Amino acid sequence: MNRILIVYHTLTGGTRQMAEAAAAGAGEASSLEVCLELATACGPEALMAASGYVFACPENLAAMSGLMKDFFDRCYYPVLDQVQGRPYATLICAGSDGSNAARQIERIATGWRLQQIAPPVIVCTHAQTAEEILRAKTIGEADLARCRELGATLAAGVELGVF
Ligand SMILES: Cc1cc2nc3c(=O)[nH]c(=O)nc-3n(C[C@H](O)[C@H](O)[C@H](O)COP(=O)(O)O)c2cc1C
Repeated sequence: MNRILIVYHTLTGGTRQMAEAAAAGAGEASSLEVCLELATACGPEALMAASGYVFACPENLAAMSGLMKDFFDRCYYPVLDQVQGRPYATLICAGSDGSNAARQIERIATGWRLQQIAPPVIVCTHAQTAEEILRAKTIGEADLARCRELGATLAAGVELGVF
């Protein structure tokens, strides 16, 4: 198993750019296979087949986005006790907060006994009005670099057997 799985959901495109940056970082830093999958298309088999994970989603209504939660709901029991110890990292795209979405993912990952390799990367897009919130997002280069670095750290650590 030499695969990094990046599971993401996005409403307005910000998280997709972050997840793609993490995938690029993982690919540059290692020879591992990197799988970027939409949460809606991802299931327990994909989790079982990877040795490290990045979970990425927006914070919506002070929680991880619903379709990301659906991914965890569908996968939690099918892989319970079969993925413990595997490393993971989290990316959150938020308007101004993001902490509760990160906390929710951390609690689920703790249930799976995964190993968090770094603090969550939270990118705030500073959308305030309804119009700004619903507009397609463009994530800045500095924030994309943080996502690339997280993906690179995870993949390099997995490849070297550090995690
Ligand atoms: C229904 C809805 C609820 C939201 N609630 C929050 C929230 O509770 N906290 C926050 O920081 N941002 C909130 N936002 C803003 C999004 O997190 C922000 O626009 C983010 O950039 C979206 O990421 P995406 O482009 O990957 O969908 C909300 C957006 C929507 C559409």
